[in-house]
Amino acid sequence: MRKPFVAGNWKMNTDSHTSVELAERIASESMDVSGQVTLGVCPPFVYLQAVAKALSASSVSIGAQDVYYEPKGAFTGEISTSMLKDIGCVYCLCGHSERRHVIGETDELINKKTTAAIAGGLLPILCVGELLAEREASQTDGIVTRQLENGLAGLSAEKVSAVTIAYEPVWAIGTGLTATPQQAQEVHDFIRKLLGQMYDDRVAGGIRILYGGSVKPDNAEELMGQLDIDGLLVGGASLKADDFLAIIQAAI
Ligand code: PGA
Repeated sequence: MRKPFVAGNWKMNTDSHTSVELAERIASESMDVSGQVTLGVCPPFVYLQAVAKALSASSVSIGAQDVYYEPKGAFTGEISTSMLKDIGCVYCLCGHSERRHVIGETDELINKKTTAAIAGGLLPILCVGELLAEREASQTDGIVTRQLENGLAGLSAEKVSAVTIAYEPVWAIGTGLTATPQQAQEVHDFIRKLLGQMYDDRVAGGIRILYGGSVKPDNAEELMGQLDIDGLLVGGASLKADDFLAIIQAAI
């Protein structure tokens, strides 16, 4: 009942030429699976429009890697939801671990961004996940609970249905260390039960929970085989068309 969802997070990579080239290959070579999987890519802000154009005849949506919660005004360097909508953005990442841990975003800020994204007609992908030290101290459930309860604070059941959750253990991002499918499934199951408590089972059953963290063509299928893993948020491997296309195939 939950359609698989594969999203690529290009982070601070590509240029004006390679972003379009990558998008064109993904667009043309994912045509035959477009009905079976939701697809999105999140390029750097400056290439969003060019990538949107390259994807316009495909079913691959574009997403932003971040958004600001104020509608407009004196917020130097920031990008609003209406700007993203204006150029055809569908998704936006909120609270990616690099924004939490490198840039220093708080749960409160991430909640404002998630709330503003929904109000502005975007579909947020709210990222959660624990650090290695937190996992080793058996704090994973507590961290994920805090990030979800704060990140979704104030959102009604109706609004939360616009949200996709991405569980990305920080220790698995860009490190080559993937959570085992069982480790990932355990946390996904925990997240779904928590959503069931925060809302209800019907709402929780409808929300897609993606796994992210060193997803590659050779581990994608087993991860997707887990009951509560509904899709994949792919960083490094989404920059190689062959790898991203293979991950898409593995997800359906
Ligand atoms: P990775 O990144 O696939 O390179 O580990 C995933 C992410 O940060 O979304």
